[in-house]
Amino acid sequence: MKQDKTDQAADGGKEAAAGTGQVQFFDTTLRDGEQAAGVNLNVDEKLQIARQLAKMNMDVIEAGFPAASPGDFSCVQAIAREIKTSTVCGLARTREGDIRAAAQALAQAESPRIHVFIATSPIHMEHKLKMTPGEVMDQARAGVLLARSLVPEVEFSAEDASRSDLDFLIRVFRIAMEAGATVLNIPDTVGYAVPEEFQVFCRKIIEGVGAPPGVIFSVHAHNDLGLAAANSLAAVRAGVRQVEGTINGMGERGGNSALEEVAMAIRTRRDIYGLDFRLDTRRLYPVSRLVARLSGVAVPPNKAVVGANAFAHEAGIHQHGVLAKRETYEIMKAEDVGSTPAVMVLGKHSGRHAFRDRLEYLGYNLTDTEVTRAFESFKRLCDEKKDATDGDIEAIISDEILSVQPEYRYEFKEYSMHVGGENTTCTVVLALNGKELSDAATGHGPVEAAYAAIKRIIRVHPRLESFTIAATSERSNAMGEAKVTLSQDGIKAQGNGASTDIIKASIRAYVNAVNRLYSTAAVRKVSLTPPAAQGAGGR
Ligand code: KIV
Ligand code: ZN
Repeated sequence: MKQDKTDQAADGGKEAAAGTGQVQFFDTTLRDGEQAAGVNLNVDEKLQIARQLAKMNMDVIEAGFPAASPGDFSCVQAIAREIKTSTVCGLARTREGDIRAAAQALAQAESPRIHVFIATSPIHMEHKLKMTPGEVMDQARAGVLLARSLVPEVEFSAEDASRSDLDFLIRVFRIAMEAGATVLNIPDTVGYAVPEEFQVFCRKIIEGVGAPPGVIFSVHAHNDLGLAAANSLAAVRAGVRQVEGTINGMGERGGNSALEEVAMAIRTRRDIYGLDFRLDTRRLYPVSRLVARLSGVAVPPNKAVVGANAFAHEAGIHQHGVLAKRETYEIMKAEDVGSTPAVMVLGKHSGRHAFRDRLEYLGYNLTDTEVTRAFESFKRLCDEKKDATDGDIEAIISDEILSVQPEYRYEFKEYSMHVGGENTTCTVVLALNGKELSDAATGHGPVEAAYAAIKRIIRVHPRLESFTIAATSERSNAMGEAKVTLSQDGIKAQGNGASTDIIKASIRAYVNAVNRLYSTAAVRKVSLTPPAAQGAGGR
């Protein structure tokens, strides 16, 4: 993407005129977002997120990369089966096997799309693909033709477009379009672009390809330089009409373009972009919380649009201004992104109806049986601590409902502890298929002793990658919520546990992570190595 100074100045009025009509949003939280280090969402979690994305009128949901693994295939299939109001998309390289797997996973989708990609930059063609430009063009044509013979809608991406030769890129896009792709995506795969340059680059592509109505251009920006949202908006100014990104900007390295930021910029600066969209922005905050909780990737408090402080005013002068007239220091309304200013507290007198409403607001779409189970836990919690905040309710849901792994469900029953400094002893009782199993171990403190006892019971010694415990609210009667990441035999699993007793929360989190290790191992058809064969193993 090289250009001269005249190009860089060529912005403004002319392209603002392109700003009429609709822009579509393409969410790839479940595919590109899930590629973030340490994130591993299971089918149920992906379905929970997909339901909320559909509820917020997401135009396209990229549900996964079906050829990547059996787990990814099942996720795309499950989402395609259930989600009927958004287009469901599966990613594929130009290889025949990938494209057929995507078509098969999408077979039951109401509105399926295959997203075919191949790299077009010199560095990717030479060192990764080991293909000549001519071979890449042939592959792009063949891939799109095959995909188009299997589904009615095909998107084509030129991976690493921003580092590709402009003329070559235009030729590849033309080939893909002539083979039947109706969405031509311009990825800034490594987050290399800067906005002024990228706007001109996108405009030249659009003009060079000369697509008829019915074919749209799309942008897919990564955030390595913190410019993903700015680059997406620059592309929109150039005439791109689909924006790809993820909730909270989740993704590999610096992440992807944060959809909530792009959507709110287009809405707030309608005077610049002049575009509408279908997305219900009042769902942004609940969906953001849901994604953060299920992925384990926390939202920084100062994160634009959905951060805890996005609408908080600390400085007295700002508070005074906002009280006198909100617009003095706020350019968006908290309600417009679904972030209620006051924390709502439910208590022991709250009914099932209010509880269910709050769950829905928080982005959980549970079955009646799950709501009943969660409501029972909520009532038990209120007996212990009178009332429950959103954080408490979310902790209950991720501990008791979303962490359940039916096939390998070790269930935590009870523990007892003898605290004695270096020689703390803990006895833990678990149940497996209704049979109680108990063992005891010592450790330097209660958590180490409890985890050692669990390892003796389960007869595998996973490595403890991380352990955190935090309060679910700022109140002194808050629950403790523990998060544990375990790894073994190349599998990583996270578990959450919540309780007013922090040892119990820590044990529940460990047991949940163990259950997830086993269920992922079952999907991948591997058995976890027992301690004898493991050597020094877990710590
Ligand atoms: O970043 C990228 O280039 C991608 C493509 C597969 C669209 O994720
Ligand atoms: Zn990407």
